[in-house]
Parts: sequence; C-alpha cells; structure tokens
Amino acid sequence: MYPQIFTAAQGVDQAFLIILGFAVFILVAVTVTMLYFLWRYHYTRNPQPTDIKGSISLEILWTVLPTLIVLGLFWTGWTSFKAMRTIPEGAMTVAVEGRMWSWRFTYGNGRTSKELVIPVDTPVKLDLTTRDVIHSFYVPAMRVKWDLVPGMDTNAWIESDTVGDYDIFCAEYCGLKHADMITILRVVDQDDFDAWLNGKEEPAEEDLGMSLLEEFGCFDCHSMDLSADAAPSLLDLGSREETVILPDGTERKIKPDEAYIRQSVREPGAVLVKGWGDEMPPYGDELSDAQLGVMASYLLKGGQGKDKGAALADE
Ligand code: CUA
Repeated sequence: MYPQIFTAAQGVDQAFLIILGFAVFILVAVTVTMLYFLWRYHYTRNPQPTDIKGSISLEILWTVLPTLIVLGLFWTGWTSFKAMRTIPEGAMTVAVEGRMWSWRFTYGNGRTSKELVIPVDTPVKLDLTTRDVIHSFYVPAMRVKWDLVPGMDTNAWIESDTVGDYDIFCAEYCGLKHADMITILRVVDQDDFDAWLNGKEEPAEEDLGMSLLEEFGCFDCHSMDLSADAAPSLLDLGSREETVILPDGTERKIKPDEAYIRQSVREPGAVLVKGWGDEMPPYGDELSDAQLGVMASYLLKGGQGKDKGAALADE
C-alpha cells in the first residue's frame, strides 16, 4: 500500500478499514452460521421442525441494526469526502491538463511542466481539464482520484507533509497509450520550489524546436524515429514523400512543407496521412503561429539531435 501523505485524506484509509472490517465480520458470521446449520440440521440428527409464527423483536433488530451500520459507514465516508472537497482559502492554484497521453501542469506565473512540483505543507488547488477524452487524475499516495471530463471544469486539492517523489497515473482507459500516461508528483521544500518556479532557463535557439515539440506533447503519439505506434513518424519530414487523403477522399502524394505542417496541427482532421486515423486533437491559441513556425522549420530540417531519448536525458 502507498504511504499516506495527504492529511485531509486520512479518513479515506479509515473508511476503507472500517468497511473492510464490517465486510469480513459479516462474511465470517454468515459462513460460520451456515456451517453450523449444515451440521445441526443434517437428516441423521432427525431435526424436528418448529412452527414459528413470527418475532417482533427479531424483526426490529434486523431492521434497525443494519440501518445503523449503514448510516455509520456513510458517515465515515462522508466526513473524509467533505474534508477532501473543502479547498482551503488562499491555496496555490495549478492548472492540470490531461491529454492523450501525458499531463501538463501550468502555474500562476505561466511556468509549464510535465511533472507536478509542489511545496511541502502548502495546500494546492488543482483545476482539472482535459483537451480530448476522459482521463482520471490519480495520486495513490494522496488517495486522490478525479475524472477529467471534456467540457467540464473539475477541481480538487492536495497537500503533503512529506518531501518526496510520488506516482501520478491516469486511471481512466483513454486509448492506445493509456498505460504510459504516468508522471511524477515532486514534493519539495519551499525554497527549492521557489527556485524551480522562477528558474526555467530558456532553451537555446537550436533546441527550441525540440523543446516545443516536447512541451506540447507531440511525442506522446509521434516519434522522431520509427518507433511511433500511435501516429505518423516525424522522421525526416522535409525529405520524404507522404501519401495523404484529401477531404474529398482522393489520395495524393505530397512533399511536406510548412503550410502542410501548420494545417496538420491546426486542423489535423482535414488532410490525413494514408493509413492513419483522425485521433489528433486540433491545437489552437495555446500554440502561437510563431511557435508553430519554429516547430515546422525544425521538423523540415530533419531535427538536430533527433534522438528523442538523448533529448529527454538532457533535461
Ligand atoms: Cu488518460 Cu488513461
């Protein structure tokens, strides 16, 4: 079991143990009674049936007792649910975006990250949205799991009293690479957090294309080699021929150019690469024309340092 680092969610473990305790108790009680009856009323013991007319006290007992038990179980769950739904005043806000198939965290000062970094002992409000399908933001160590539903703004809050790294999963099946939709929650000291929040150095000019491709999650589906299994490879885009399907259904061979790349990002469904579907969501305002231009020229040049693994290791 994951360690529990979110004090407001301690009631979750408590509710779990209480419900488990009752369930085990009832299982054992029913099984033991059943075995006793099997033995006691076996035909070799010649049981004599009794003609029972009814019992008011028994009826009251088996109505009232389960009602009290169920209300008690509800109360245990309700108190912890309320604590987890009551976002403390003045909590720091982080926008969480789920997308096929990675996470993007945006801070108040505009800093974006693929990992969730938070200061220790500080309540953090999470604004949860998705840019495509339903995902579920799941931090086992926080006992926090909320669905991200298209068109719906959800929020939650977390707080940790322990510095460390914890897993973040997607807990809603969301397509081919659902299982890869994993990232890390880093809980750090306030000083480390401040340094991290304000310390993002701008990537050098020649790395800008790659860092944009990474920031916008292009490699969640595409690759710069031939390992892509969810979307067309971006390998040597500028020097190859692509067979595409036009909106009217006709096929055409094209040489990818900047206009083609721009359109593929803005309206991915318009012109499809033959053999691939239209799963890619369109990118709008969040990606500027200038950024798109940098990405396009980077891709058309074949990408310096196009080995994605090496680029990630440099981070
Ligand atoms: Cu996102 Cu599963």
